[in-house]
Amino acid sequence: MSDWKLESWRAKSALHQPVYPDAVALREVTSQLEELPPLVFAEEIQSLRKDLAKVERGEGFLLQGGDCAESFAEFSQQNLQDTVKVILQMAVTLTYAGSCPVVKMGRVAGQFAKPRSSPVETRNGESLPSYLGDIINGIDFDESSRVPDPQRMLRAYQQSVTSINLLRAMATGGFASLRNIREWNLESVNGTKLAERYGAMTDRIHQALDFMNACGVPMEAFSSLQGTALYTSHEALLLEYEQVMTRQVDGAWYDLSAHCLWVGERTRQEDSAHLELMRGVENPVGVKIGPTATADDCLRISTQLNPDNESGKLIFICRMGAAKTKEVLPALLKAVSDAGRKVIWVCDPMHGNTETAASGYKTRNFDRIMEEVIAFFDAHRNAGTYPGGLHLEMTGRYVTECTGGAYEISDEDLHHCYDTQCDPRLNAGQALEIAYQAADELRRFRQK
Ligand code: TRP
Ligand code: MN
Repeated sequence: MSDWKLESWRAKSALHQPVYPDAVALREVTSQLEELPPLVFAEEIQSLRKDLAKVERGEGFLLQGGDCAESFAEFSQQNLQDTVKVILQMAVTLTYAGSCPVVKMGRVAGQFAKPRSSPVETRNGESLPSYLGDIINGIDFDESSRVPDPQRMLRAYQQSVTSINLLRAMATGGFASLRNIREWNLESVNGTKLAERYGAMTDRIHQALDFMNACGVPMEAFSSLQGTALYTSHEALLLEYEQVMTRQVDGAWYDLSAHCLWVGERTRQEDSAHLELMRGVENPVGVKIGPTATADDCLRISTQLNPDNESGKLIFICRMGAAKTKEVLPALLKAVSDAGRKVIWVCDPMHGNTETAASGYKTRNFDRIMEEVIAFFDAHRNAGTYPGGLHLEMTGRYVTECTGGAYEISDEDLHHCYDTQCDPRLNAGQALEIAYQAADELRRFRQK
């Protein structure tokens, strides 16, 4: 990495970056941020690398989920706790079904910046700069809100600190103990088939723990049963922010804004400034792989980001849509595995299945999402490669943003509870249902 420097990205093409009108104000904020503590530690990033290396070898599974975009307005203890509860439920389901460890990772504590398809938004003949995420500008449709404001980076940083504090408390403070498995159930799911299935599993787990206890192996003796690790991740989109959070620890560079970062489909081109910054850090890095990605793209990205073909480093997050997954993914799996490149393959069944409902809402249909998950597992089965994980946009709240699923949400229902800042999310029940399907697939996969 002798040719990499913290600022070498500036000579590359940095797409989807805001233009701050006041360069002095920007510099003031970045120098303040420079003095603030990191959000995560290098050691934690190294543990994640080890956990992901296991996934890469087919000995684990990655579950990554959270809001499309975090916001200042929707931030609350309740929202975050509910999301964590669903992630724990999904994780324990997958662990149980697949008999393999699950790496739990939130799209949280930093997921604030959004690339947009158009730089301007037009409403009733009036055009303004697009909303780019709370870390950059405001969502209100007026001129002053839409001006990029560097102060928002400080607020996003502070909210991330608060979020991470809560995540750590939930992960290690007793709440995530397997004894509390019933407490993770959410009210909105009660009375559904999902709750029934979850209840049956929790009974079996409790029985197993009681049995082990009776045999003289009390769970108190094993800290691994009493808590878990919750990692954080977000899209490394806003390069001024990621640069200032990238710091040197024992001679190596880490982006200490999160454990794991990813580069989006729209910013992963060959001369990408985003790939350039991520090339220099020790963090595991995800790259979104859309339906137009070629085998050459995958191999090129793999050599750019992971020249030494290290383990637990590179994650390809496929987001192709159900149909294209069947068509396009097999050739990519083959090319990468023929070349002997180390990659963790993850399925994002959300972004390739976005559509506009007759009612005008941006939505995703549950059946298409499920179809993509199944197609993803099938493709790996055929290619002899390993389906390493799931990446979902989801919330613990009862929202009506995706159609279908256990609550049979229809086009006409979407307006009831459509709260997303950006893309439609699975609600708690829909997310659990996906986890059940994935758990069955994973079990089948691991038994063969
Ligand atoms: N520590 C183990 C793990 O993280 C077991 C565990 C404890 C667990 N609490 C959990 C698993 C909550 C899933 C969900 O896998
Ligand atoms: Mn999204």
